[in-house]
Amino acid sequence: MPTNTLLAVDQNTITDVALEQMSTTANPRLKQIMDSLVRHLHDFAREVDLKPEEWLEGIKFLTAVGQTCTPNRQEFILLSDTLGLSSLITSLHDERTRDSSSTTASLLGPFYRQSSPQKALGDSIVANPGVAEIAVYGRVTDAQGRGIPNASVEIWQTDDEGVYDLQKEADLVDARGQFHADAEGRYWLRTVTPLGYLIPMDGPVGDMIRAQKRHGYRPGHIHFLISAPGYREVITALYMGYDDHIGSDTVFGVRAPLVVKIDEKDPKCPIPGLKSIHFDFQLAAASSDGSGRVGADPSQILKK
Ligand code: BEZ
Ligand code: FE
Repeated sequence: MPTNTLLAVDQNTITDVALEQMSTTANPRLKQIMDSLVRHLHDFAREVDLKPEEWLEGIKFLTAVGQTCTPNRQEFILLSDTLGLSSLITSLHDERTRDSSSTTASLLGPFYRQSSPQKALGDSIVANPGVAEIAVYGRVTDAQGRGIPNASVEIWQTDDEGVYDLQKEADLVDARGQFHADAEGRYWLRTVTPLGYLIPMDGPVGDMIRAQKRHGYRPGHIHFLISAPGYREVITALYMGYDDHIGSDTVFGVRAPLVVKIDEKDPKCPIPGLKSIHFDFQLAAASSDGSGRVGADPSQILKK
């Protein structure tokens, strides 16, 4: 409703005044999101009685977060992760689109890269596995437990020093790969025992974590993106139950069904002689609103 009347703007009326001006938003979903965001932002400022210098501190912080983003680093996603927002949106999406028994989703994280190296079943994803080598194996099935032939199994993790390849060098590719399950949906591969690691602490999000006296660690984990035509993809991770930080993940990615142990001597392991993790992934049938990832390869986010 366009109006020339001078409305009394004060700390109590400003929210309605702003919502009124935004009421012309054409896209109904954008309107719903912006209305709610403005209401919550205003309530937040009133609740804490936000001071001008605190507001400016927030602006400086968000500016630094933006300035830290590069094709290899997404500080805004890291901020979302450390505030629990990525975990919340992952759960909302997963609950909306899963079957009752499909594999629980977890965070994509900032170290996913499109186009992982292609691997054959049984290959290692790590250039120098050393003594920490383990096997990971299992099946990719549908909701009825039938194997999904040729399902894609993308995997990425830290190397034997607890570092992701592109934290060492932007172009280095290690500890990641894409496998395809066999005709019965089985997969098996070699990797190394994942070590827990600090999230990137050298930027503004690290400053926030230190100010909050949080430890900044993620428990050891292995990331997976499992997909097949006709099925809802699952982005998830397997978490090492023995890790000291299993109950205090800095980015809230751990879910109970995803906590695993490393078996010393599993007679069923298809790669004899190695310690192993056995995990079966179950995919839901594709649905109209099943797509959507909480995150992306950072280089894609910077693309116009
Ligand atoms: C990761 O799992 O790689 C990760 C996730 C969120 C923030 C930092 C790292
Ligand atoms: Fe990770």
